[in-house]
Amino acid sequence: MTKKKLTIPQFKELKTQGQKFRMVTAYDYTFASIVEKTPIEMILVGDSLGMVVLGYDSTVPVTMEDMIHHIKPVVRAAKNTFVVGDMPFGSYNVSVNEAIRNANRILQEGGADAVKLEGGSNVLEIVSEMVKGGIPVVGHIGLTPQTAAQLGGFKVQGKETEIARKLIEDALHLEQAGAFAIVLECVVAPIAQLITEKVAIPTIGIGAGPACDAQVLVMQDLLGMYDKFTPKFVKQYVHLNGQIVDALTTYAQEVADGVFPGPEHSFGLNKEQLGRLY
Ligand code: KIV
Repeated sequence: MTKKKLTIPQFKELKTQGQKFRMVTAYDYTFASIVEKTPIEMILVGDSLGMVVLGYDSTVPVTMEDMIHHIKPVVRAAKNTFVVGDMPFGSYNVSVNEAIRNANRILQEGGADAVKLEGGSNVLEIVSEMVKGGIPVVGHIGLTPQTAAQLGGFKVQGKETEIARKLIEDALHLEQAGAFAIVLECVVAPIAQLITEKVAIPTIGIGAGPACDAQVLVMQDLLGMYDKFTPKFVKQYVHLNGQIVDALTTYAQEVADGVFPGPEHSFGLNKEQLGRLY
């Protein structure tokens, strides 16, 4: 299928028209080129790569180098899909200057179209300075995995009135600071709906109900590949983990039995050429 990369004003226009858009994570060339063949408008090179690609227990150990290493091949593959690069833990909590320097790297070295960073009131100055500097920013509130310990673990956000109020305020402030979209992660659906109604920029939900302007899922979750744990909000559209295990097991058996490679997978030599060697 042919598609054209959407611009930031076009994403905002989709919200105005009540038209949903789609985002999925990708971390390498192969998967990004597959996304490129679909109608999905946005790729997130998320720091979730720390868990699903690098095997860490959380996103905290992910570095700027890791992010850039993974953003580059995605950008090479997905020429017609808008690519957002995640700011990893430690890349924006030292100073505003350092945050901008790191965001510049994600755009210049990585080639991403925008950056995403976690936080609400604590990151407003950073978001505002980035936007003034010409860096497109996606906010991320609700369950923020980099600081999940401060939230009391990986739990749904917005059940308590105070926290719900803060989420709404944070979303409005992020919009004022210049973010062009906001990821709402693990937010109770009615509060995600309220936020979506109150802000003019698109909300991108993950575990935040159907009212959000867009949805995002982690690729390995959506495809049923990551089997360590599956959150309630994940829908597995296929169960690739089991299918890959079956394929690899068959391959292993065929090699052991001498069935693979067969003649159709081998390169021959004609009799004359072979004769000269005897
Ligand atoms: O890193 C990531 O994949 C994310 C999504 C869960 C939104 O931040």
